Amino acid sequence: MDCNKGQVFIMDHPLIQHKLSIIRRKETGVKEFREIVSEIATLIAYEATRNLQVSETIVATPVGLAKCHELSGKKLALVPILRAGLGMVDGVLTLIPAAKVGHIGLYRDPATLKPVKYYCKLPNDIGEREVFVLDPMLATGGSAIDAIRFIKDEGAVKITLMNIIAAPEGIAAVQKAHPDVDIYCAALDERLNDHGYIVPGLGDAGDRIFGTK
Ligand code: PRP
Ligand code: URA
Repeated sequence: MDCNKGQVFIMDHPLIQHKLSIIRRKETGVKEFREIVSEIATLIAYEATRNLQVSETIVATPVGLAKCHELSGKKLALVPILRAGLGMVDGVLTLIPAAKVGHIGLYRDPATLKPVKYYCKLPNDIGEREVFVLDPMLATGGSAIDAIRFIKDEGAVKITLMNIIAAPEGIAAVQKAHPDVDIYCAALDERLNDHGYIVPGLGDAGDRIFGTK
């Protein structure tokens, strides 16, 4: 195994698979879509945080002393890619409520499929934090690649990407551009279509979360 290469983790948990089948369905409405995106984000976060550093501590219970472990590594930050990444924030904060949250606004130019940046506000100390980038869709990979670059430019060294659905093209592109970044996603789909949409995917994640179509 190439140790410099980020790993790709595809979730096969039955709860995630079931929830995915609901958000993929074209009839699913905005309320249910939003709720389930958030639930899936919580489940992905559970797995994506598996390697957080812990250290031993002794805790006095009402009955005796317990050897426990508490988080002891770098503080955490979440960075959703606007808009659709916003739909994952609350679900991840359910598990790591003290994380700071930055925002990167990118939209894909429909003609070129290249990401266009319109907003970036990151915590001042992001360079000292472990960062989780959130975006439901990893299609060509352009948006994730740029977002990770902006975060690295601020000094962050440990970055993990969390997606709900990824295309093989997007995974390959992120691995090439950022070989140190691990990718966690709920599903790896077949391919991209001519418009850069993931097939079978779930359509436009931002529109489905915010009800804009
Ligand atoms: C979607 C999605 C990703 C991006 C993925 O955002 O949420 O950010 O496309 O595509 P890529 O991997 O080819 O870059 P979109 O540009 O539709 O913006 P929106 O979230 O504001 O709708
Ligand atoms: N963005 C989306 O929202 N969906 C796709 O399938 C690809 C990019």
